[in-house]
Amino acid sequence: MGSLLRSAVMTEVASVLFGREDIRSRVQALGRTIAGDYVGREPILITVLKGGAVFLADLMRATPLSVEPHFMAISRYGDAEESLGRVQILLDVDIDIAGRDVILVEDIVDTGLTLRYLLGVLRARGPSSLEVCTLLDKAVRRIVPLAPRYVGFECPDRFVVGYGLDVQERFRNLPDILQVDDLVALQADPSLLAPRFASA
Ligand code: IMP
Ligand code: MG
Repeated sequence: MGSLLRSAVMTEVASVLFGREDIRSRVQALGRTIAGDYVGREPILITVLKGGAVFLADLMRATPLSVEPHFMAISRYGDAEESLGRVQILLDVDIDIAGRDVILVEDIVDTGLTLRYLLGVLRARGPSSLEVCTLLDKAVRRIVPLAPRYVGFECPDRFVVGYGLDVQERFRNLPDILQVDDLVALQADPSLLAPRFASA
């Protein structure tokens, strides 16, 4: 395929929704807000692998406080909606969170089913506070009425990739967040987004 035709196809498949500079300034602002809210405390930031890892890495460095990063990994039984949020914990945090301030750091909250499950698990362990910080909030898709305390961006009802978010494990390392306009085409030919890596 010629390069002109190829870039025309690419722009149809996906387009930038939140660019790296917008992400950077929003994450800096979130970090300052969290630091202001937790003055004198040392919150634990629990991130759900793998999607939240990129956001966490930037957020904790934008938060002028001593914070402790910890990780969980989960697998969903199929689609969140099919599974009604049933989740299996593959990796758990290795600390006692009882009496601690905990912030659950998420890449995106969609239906809220995953988040409801995780909040239930964590709340049962007796943290002194438990809040949610999500980079993206797809509130229009919510099934469970949950409102994260900290939100980077309101996200339209589109499938998004980049900055941690994937399609079948690809595109997590794109520096921008792209909205995918043709998911079928992208799944058929993932190389359509290859030029987006090069522009990092
Ligand atoms: P929920 O249980 O429906 O809220 O699912 C949230 C999870 O679904 C996120 O942590 C992501 O892994 C995944 N997800 C939801 N929307 C998107 C998207 O637009 N792009 C990539 N992953 C998504
Ligand atoms: Mg995913």
